[in-house]
Amino acid sequence: MRTAVVTGASSGIGREFVRQLGYFYKDLDEIWVIARRAERLEALKKESRVPVRIFEGDLLKKQVYKEYHRSLKDLCPDVRMLVNSAGFGKSGSFINIAGEGKKLQTDMVDLNCRALTRMTQMTIPWMGKGGRIINLASAAAFCPQNGFAVYAATKAYVLSFSRALGSELKSCGIYVTAVCPGPVDTEFFSVSGELTNPLKKLTLASAPGVVRKALSDSRKKRSVSVYGAGMKAARLGAKFIPHSLILKAEELFTK
Ligand SMILES: NC(=O)c1ccc[n+]([C@@H]2O[C@H](COP(=O)([O-])OP(=O)(O)OC[C@H]3O[C@@H](n4cnc5c(N)ncnc54)[C@H](OP(=O)(O)O)[C@@H]3O)[C@@H](O)[C@H]2O)c1
Repeated sequence: MRTAVVTGASSGIGREFVRQLGYFYKDLDEIWVIARRAERLEALKKESRVPVRIFEGDLLKKQVYKEYHRSLKDLCPDVRMLVNSAGFGKSGSFINIAGEGKKLQTDMVDLNCRALTRMTQMTIPWMGKGGRIINLASAAAFCPQNGFAVYAATKAYVLSFSRALGSELKSCGIYVTAVCPGPVDTEFFSVSGELTNPLKKLTLASAPGVVRKALSDSRKKRSVSVYGAGMKAARLGAKFIPHSLILKAEELFTK
């Protein structure tokens, strides 16, 4: 059974991957989707060209991994693509975030890094030559960010992990792409806090565009996918400008 697996499929970029995967692969038998909001995943069944199998659950808890593991063992799928899109950000100064926000900081690490790593670990044994892994990093991975310290650090992990994993898996014919978009118009900001930075507002991208580019870069075996001229410039800037200067500039823009 030729399968694609998408986490964070109930919204935004993950949902868009499910919509586009049926066009990208002509011979998929199923797309396995993972997220907490089951009603959203049910709605996807009507939109997807490919039959959808739902794994409803919280990637911060054990149950959904148990169900996923059981299905892998029972159905022995040939996983052509894994898309790790589940993730969230929470903005605010690290030391000033109190109460519930404190837990969100550690949950961010657990979802953006730990869950992504665990899903990858569980899925690779079911992938073969020509398989693809797409991990949602972010342009925030390129350098540290004031007021987004933990989020940017989790995405730096995703970028670094994906590049090294891609290098390790190349000999097996499995290719890994880290997707590094700037701001994308999704529900992300209802969780992270509204987008106020004028520079970020200017570069707001659409999920369909980001996903189209990611799938095309994955097909071309590119290790990193960056959408839009603004973010390509940001990546280049972060390579050459000292990060201490970038942090100072960010301070001015966020005041
Ligand atoms: N939007 C942006 O500006 C932007 C920019 C760069 C990178 N990214 C990255 O792109 C990825 C997708 O973000 P998005 O923009 O599509 O945001 P989104 O619309 O908020 O989607 C996030 C997805 O993650 C799922 N999710 C969140 N917590 C979960 C949990 N504990 N267990 C299982 N699933 C969980 C959500 O599903 P449920 O709530 O139903 O569980 C949802 O499907 C994230 O990794 C994000 O960091 C986003």
